[in-house]
Amino acid sequence: MIEVENLRKEYGSRVAVDGISFRVEPGQIFGLLGPNGAGKTTTISCISGLIRPTSGTLNVRGEDMTRGRSEARRSLGVVPQELAMYMEVSAQENLQYWASVQGLSSDEVKRKVPEMLERVGLADRAKDPVKDFSGGMKRRLNLAIGLVHDPEVVLMDEPTVGVDPQSRGHILDLIKERAAAGCAILYTTHYMGEAEGLCDSFSIMDHGKVIAEGTLDELLSQAGDAIQRQTVPEPSLERLFLHLTGKELRE
Ligand SMILES: Nc1ncnc2c1ncn2[C@@H]1O[C@H](COP(=O)(O)OP(=O)(O)O)[C@@H](O)[C@H]1O
Ligand SMILES: [Mg+2]
Repeated sequence: MIEVENLRKEYGSRVAVDGISFRVEPGQIFGLLGPNGAGKTTTISCISGLIRPTSGTLNVRGEDMTRGRSEARRSLGVVPQELAMYMEVSAQENLQYWASVQGLSSDEVKRKVPEMLERVGLADRAKDPVKDFSGGMKRRLNLAIGLVHDPEVVLMDEPTVGVDPQSRGHILDLIKERAAAGCAILYTTHYMGEAEGLCDSFSIMDHGKVIAEGTLDELLSQAGDAIQRQTVPEPSLERLFLHLTGKELRE
């Protein structure tokens, strides 16, 4: 569904992405991991057609994404790192607007918008202006905007930044649900615990290059002794926190 080969992007003399390759299959949640500045957002922006790569090939559902408008773009959903929404208007109006931009008919907008608001736990706040929302609520709306047209290929750029564990759990459940329905999902994060529980295959990027790739088992066995010597604690605090505070969504 997504094929990236030898992707390279330079900004002037800075090489943001330095010849990376990977592919994402239907039903797969592919984790593109890396610290800040690794080149994750640049990669996503190239695939979505927002910026033009310096070189390399990018195919989504077999279509070349570097060639301007294409059919594949319509089956692509993007959940950007920077929130893309109008702060002065309501969640509902935002979602209606973005749904029509995605080409949904007015009947589809009427059906999908309330369904999606319900799914991200914002139905009771649908009429409130987004500027009054908490970080978690904005992130959930950001996700709804990216998924409202039922895309088959989804690019998610750190969709859980700055949210509480309740919103995080809700967002991750929704992502798993989409993958189970056959979506190909490219997911970037620098939260390793989150990626571990979510993604079935990974590329770890640093300074524009892929420094390791494979399943978790493959990555751990590649790392071998280097990782065995350190005792990596389980992410038990988050589990205890959720156990004590419950999974119900908060602001
Ligand atoms: N528009 C831009 N102009 C110049 N440099 C940029 C631009 N966007 C990103 N960069 C640089 O490219 C590198 C990769 O950035 P980015 O793709 O945003 O990384 P990540 O999403 O992994 O944090 C960084 O060094 C960043 O400073
Ligand atoms: Mg980024």
